[in-house]
Amino acid sequence: MRGSLVLLGGDPGIGKSSLLMQASASLAERGTVLYVSGEESAAQIKLRARRFGISSGNILVLAETDLGTIIEQIRRIHPIFTVIDSIQTVSSDVIGSAAGGVSQLRECTARLLEVAKGDDVPIFLVGHVTKEGAVAGPRVLEHIVDAVLYLEGERFHAFRILRATKDRFGSTDEVGVFEMGETGLREVANPSEVFLEERNKGVPGSVIVPTVEGTRPLLVEVQALVTPTSFGLPRRTVSGADPQRLAVLLAVLSKRAGIGLGQHDVYVNLVGGLRVREPAADLAVAVALASALRDKAADPRTVFVGELGLGGELRRVQRVAARLKEAQRLGFTRAIVPQASLSDLNGSLRAQGPLPLGLEVVGAPSLRDALTRSGIADS
Ligand code: TYD
Ligand code: MG
Repeated sequence: MRGSLVLLGGDPGIGKSSLLMQASASLAERGTVLYVSGEESAAQIKLRARRFGISSGNILVLAETDLGTIIEQIRRIHPIFTVIDSIQTVSSDVIGSAAGGVSQLRECTARLLEVAKGDDVPIFLVGHVTKEGAVAGPRVLEHIVDAVLYLEGERFHAFRILRATKDRFGSTDEVGVFEMGETGLREVANPSEVFLEERNKGVPGSVIVPTVEGTRPLLVEVQALVTPTSFGLPRRTVSGADPQRLAVLLAVLSKRAGIGLGQHDVYVNLVGGLRVREPAADLAVAVALASALRDKAADPRTVFVGELGLGGELRRVQRVAARLKEAQRLGFTRAIVPQASLSDLNGSLRAQGPLPLGLEVVGAPSLRDALTRSGIADS
């Protein structure tokens, strides 16, 4: 969008520069792109561009950190797309505070907003999420910019998700799924297939959840492993899910389903380096934990979805029909869903036509019930 200021945040090394370099390459077919870098030298940037097969003469690379010079160049070149990589390296000696500090960061961003609006050019800012996160990271800029995107993923996994958390011009409901390769990021058109590719079927602790990312249903494998704690406090190690939420699920499992893990170390992993935040994944995580503890595999062709309440009840989830269609498409034959979601399902099926055949949908009112029906706990 012309005249807009967009922030792309993410952990260092996650692929922000690469993504914006690739975007620059596509946009350079239509006009001049200005890529300002305060992190890498022009030679380094060219090297990466060459490795990614990018060789456009329409991308001007400027290694610069001084705000005044950057603004001057934007006004002179009037690019169709500008990248500033990263906003944390930009400073101005006109602003009387230390470079890299929060007030420099805010001031520089506000000045760039004026330039974007005044000169009608789109500017993308890269912002590293720092360990201190909220303090010097991009979060302090979220209210200034027009749109905020985050690139996420686990550093040593190939998958990346691009998510919008704010957009003044459109919906934040869409995500992009990418895979990192030698030649840059590639869009993953069929993420569910890819995420389930390496699954070892029939292993205790492995459960599939149909999540929804933006508007896109995505099947993800939850893995849990539990081992007796040998000394000290039990460990809880989570990758891809919220540790606070895991604590809640452990408490609910113990209190409402009689599955106590107080003497066990617990490891939970969302396969593929994905981060899932929606509570609809609660049931799958809880079933994976119970399955791991009892050493009983869940049926590999069943998916589980539902939010867990503190009373052990299963609460309805959004977009249940879309989730189940995706499960059916990938060959799953059974879905355990919250009882309350069945009526939503009937409603949306009446509106959108029937679920494809071959998927048995089981409504469960509670965690205990879901565990019984999946054969992991005795009734
Ligand atoms: P980079 O884009 O520099 O991350 P950020 O700007 O977020 O800090 O990517 C980190 C490293 O990963 C860099 O050395 C390039 C490499 N990389 C690939 O080899 N392939 C890819 O698809 C991506 C995204 C990165
Ligand atoms: Mg970078």
